[in-house]
Amino acid sequence: MTGAVITGWGTALPDRIVTNEDIGTLFETTDEWIVERSGIHTRRAATGPFVSPPAVENPEDGLGTTGTLAAEAGGKALKFAGLSGRDISMLILCTTTPDQLIPANSAAVSAVLGIGGGAMDINAACAGFTYGLVTASGMVAAGAARVLLIGAETLTRATNWEDRTNAFLFGDGAGAVVLEAVPGEGSLLGWDLGVDGTLVPLLYAHHGSGMAMRGKEVFRRAVLATVESATTSLEKAKVGIDDIALFVPHQANIRIMEACATRLGLSKDRVASVIDRTGNTSSASIPLALVDAAENGRLHDGDLVLLAGFGAGMTWASAVWRWGGK
Ligand code: UT7
Repeated sequence: MTGAVITGWGTALPDRIVTNEDIGTLFETTDEWIVERSGIHTRRAATGPFVSPPAVENPEDGLGTTGTLAAEAGGKALKFAGLSGRDISMLILCTTTPDQLIPANSAAVSAVLGIGGGAMDINAACAGFTYGLVTASGMVAAGAARVLLIGAETLTRATNWEDRTNAFLFGDGAGAVVLEAVPGEGSLLGWDLGVDGTLVPLLYAHHGSGMAMRGKEVFRRAVLATVESATTSLEKAKVGIDDIALFVPHQANIRIMEACATRLGLSKDRVASVIDRTGNTSSASIPLALVDAAENGRLHDGDLVLLAGFGAGMTWASAVWRWGGK
């Protein structure tokens, strides 16, 4: 039996910090309203109204693309693990905002990082990273020695900057982890992935237009789906909520995160949060919060981590992961 453990991690954020005051120059809103309704103070932007567009819109070398953020985070994770791209059997890039329609964004990223094996994208919206973690673990169980898993987004490019009901929510960034094979069951103790495709109309973007969202309905369903999925993963892992050292929810809205934590029976000090300074970065949000926790000494070898996300589709995903273990 072969399982996967995480041996390296890294993140990347665009330099441009967009404040709520900046957002208030686009339409009528206030810092107080945004903070109270979402918990977001700032977000990072690689595109959009607060960033000068790069002179050449080339996804391979343009500033602040999904690909460049992914490559930066992935490169840091490889370095942390003491590996080079050649050592990687599979690159999985989770994104819902790829730089191009064709080919998969992971192809350009694999060239930058010199990936030795295959490369593919996963688009499960904000549940993407957890979908990727389960997929990567499955590949390791099937014989892949090392997988580089990246969640990267430039959501500011898919934002409708005229829609004051949701434009303040989104930000850009990337987070990455390296998974390596070890003898035994590895770190993935239980998981749950799901989708209800009848709910596509709740949150979508057509080619060339910004996101449209029914925020209240997404909010309500997000709490239900996250709690139910997390409960399923706990059951599959045969552990209880008291065994969980850290809950790493999708960073969509502090009120959603706190509602999920409360329903699951978790106190605030066991919730990882970067939403105040990243906004909602979709596939990047869970690795950004996970790496932040690791770098701030909140994760120790053997700790059980509960990851849970939901997103457009509607998709949902959760996993119970044992930290460390190489
Ligand atoms: O990754 C998944 C992606 N999506 C999500 O997770 C989003 C889920 N939804 C949410 O997070 C929340 O629904 C929002 C943060 C988007 C909105 O919060 P809300 O508490 O659901 O507010 P609301 O839409 O009910 O709006 C309340 C009021 C309305 O005024 P009235 O009808 O009460 O007079 C809005 O017109 O706030 C008004 N409003 C604003 N006011 C100031 C809406 N947008 C703004 C704004 N600034 N930007």
